[in-house]
Amino acid sequence: MNHVPTLSDIDVRQAIIDACLDMNRLGINQGTSGNISVRSRDGILITPTSLPYKTMTPQDVVWMGFDGRIEGTRQPSSEWRFHIDIMRAKPNVNAIVHAHPTACTTLSIMEKSIPPIHYMVAVAGGHDIRCAPYATFGTKELSHNALSALEGRAACLLAHHGMIATSSTLDKAMWLSVEVETLAKQYLGCLPMGEPPLLSEEEIANVIAHMSNYGHKD
Ligand code: 13P
Repeated sequence: MNHVPTLSDIDVRQAIIDACLDMNRLGINQGTSGNISVRSRDGILITPTSLPYKTMTPQDVVWMGFDGRIEGTRQPSSEWRFHIDIMRAKPNVNAIVHAHPTACTTLSIMEKSIPPIHYMVAVAGGHDIRCAPYATFGTKELSHNALSALEGRAACLLAHHGMIATSSTLDKAMWLSVEVETLAKQYLGCLPMGEPPLLSEEEIANVIAHMSNYGHKD
């Protein structure tokens, strides 16, 4: 049997910090607006709340169990509820990126989902990327709204707030975040000319089938 090497706990913690720095470098987040989690043991490793990424060390990353136990010297991200709830509800999700990318957030302020404007909408798992109704950050209600918007989808927008991207690995969740922000920019580019023509749900289903042979599949 092949041995599958797994990243050590310290490597996962460092990968989370590197991804946080990448979010800001890639222009999909600013300041400490975002947070990232990776499945670990019977819980998650998650960024601490409001700590600048530049000064974050692996020890600052918090482990939080699905039973609410916390290991670490910091408090977990204020958004720990939806990170925990999504990981519990979706066993195929191992990494979650939450950020406030400008184009996604602009659409979310308008309470707009991203419709099938481009075939790449399919990378989020369906014919649209839904915008979850607004609820105060960090609340059970926000977590509930996000989970509904993520039904059958790997990403969603959060009204008047930002975006969530989920995947089987942190690298894929980061990639998806950039793709969703790109789609949001494209949609925003179209809107001054009116609502754009859309691809059909059937065509997006067709694209999803094609993608399973291409490498976009989880
Ligand atoms: P944290 O610093 O607590 O992760 O909060 C940032 C945020 O995105 C709130 O929505």
